[in-house]
Amino acid sequence: MMADSLLIIEDEALLGAELQRHFRRDGWEVSWARSIADAQTLLFSDELAPLVVLSDMNLPDGNGLDFLEQARQQNISAEWIFITGYGTVPDSVRALKLGALDFLTKPCDLERLALIIAGATRSGRAQRRVSDQVAAQSRRYSVDSFSGDSAAAVGTRDMLTRLAAVPYSALLISGETGTGKGLAARILHHSGSRANAPLVEVNCAAIPHELMEAELFGHEAGAFTSAKARRRGLLEQADGGTLFLDELGELALDLQAKLLTAIEDKVIRRVGGEREIRLDVQIIAATNQDLHSAITERRFREDLYHRLAVFQLALPPLRQRRADIRALSQRFVTEFNHKAGKKISRIPDLAWQLLEQHSWPGNVRELRNAIERAVLLSSGTALETDWLQLAPQRASLPVADNTDQLCLTLDGSMALDDMDKYIIQSALARHAYNVTATARALGTTRETLRYRVEKYGLKSGSRDAD
Ligand SMILES: Nc1ncnc2c1ncn2[C@@H]1O[C@H](COP(=O)(O)OP(=O)(O)OP(=O)(O)O)[C@@H](O)[C@H]1O
Ligand SMILES: [Mg+2]
Repeated sequence: MMADSLLIIEDEALLGAELQRHFRRDGWEVSWARSIADAQTLLFSDELAPLVVLSDMNLPDGNGLDFLEQARQQNISAEWIFITGYGTVPDSVRALKLGALDFLTKPCDLERLALIIAGATRSGRAQRRVSDQVAAQSRRYSVDSFSGDSAAAVGTRDMLTRLAAVPYSALLISGETGTGKGLAARILHHSGSRANAPLVEVNCAAIPHELMEAELFGHEAGAFTSAKARRRGLLEQADGGTLFLDELGELALDLQAKLLTAIEDKVIRRVGGEREIRLDVQIIAATNQDLHSAITERRFREDLYHRLAVFQLALPPLRQRRADIRALSQRFVTEFNHKAGKKISRIPDLAWQLLEQHSWPGNVRELRNAIERAVLLSSGTALETDWLQLAPQRASLPVADNTDQLCLTLDGSMALDDMDKYIIQSALARHAYNVTATARALGTTRETLRYRVEKYGLKSGSRDAD
């Protein structure tokens, strides 16, 4: 229905009226603004979302190019066609950069204009560009793009498939940093029924508190000193689609309350505004914090938590799904081969062992970064283990599971003394550098342990019990 609406911005009454008549006859829904101020009112309120804007260059209250720039900043994606006065040289470079579609000089050749517009619409590049993008994104963010062979990964894909088919209004994704929360949110949007509508992302930790309300809810002109013009907030920009609220735990309490109201009532008010604006937005929130303790500490509203947690997706840390390491590593090797024009086709056994025993505190992101570095720096067709920078000593961060097992390589790459050193270092790290506990785990005495720590120059840590 809004597919066929056209906005004319033209101050000359005769030309404006003629264009309006012409396009109405062709079946367009035409709006006519006689000044930039008029056009702003139409375009920046939610009344009008034209497919094509036909704009004069010189208007009584400003310049058409400046207005296009302003519109692009407001994420208005209409195709823009300029009509310029006879003999004026258009600033075509700037217009092009701003994504204007074409120029016409006055007097207007209506046939030529109709051709340009036809090109911009149904069969034209506007639609094609958008739908190509949608298709590419949904390929890129299909459920299968969440890699891994572990039971947890299979379960996550199953959950993603189910959730994508359900019209939930809010959902919470939890997991440590780098576990794939951002990826899961994109998959949910692009595999769901809202894939053709916008996905708007905002990181609650990245925006200062005093700006956040206007950012989320928008503001009216003059709502506060720096609010010169009316502005649509992120919730409005996500209308029909999805708002991804990353690091939700960082959202201030007063805004948590407003967000809850927006979710429950499906209406918002802009800052400094009276009017209620109806919205249809799906909210996906992500957090790497334990929201339960945030609730206990009164940093997070319990009612908002319960509203969001009706649908939940919890992503376990990589160290609890080590079976994913192989598939993920292979996937990232392929990705960086492709990006960097490399031809790594083999991952040596030692590399596999290091990858599989590392504790991955940074989870999948850390793994991806390690593989990126190794692919880029390796010169042959085998991944060079050193570039993973997972030397056994570095691989010995404390791990939550498997604390009583170690993996050692018996291919001659580690001398007996190195193994001894590695075992001690790992055991220390796993027992929080408590010498007594470490000695017990290694079946030795504290004296022997101290002697070897000294001998190998190991860090004995600060939490020594005695
Ligand atoms: N299962 C997976 N399959 C493929 N790629 C993954 C998977 N999980 C994560 N990744 C990739 O790992 C990187 C980190 O993931 P992502 O950014 O989604 O983590 P996050 O949980 O949002 O982290 P943070 O809390 O730090 O924002 C991304 O490049 C993502 O595409
Ligand atoms: Mg993220």
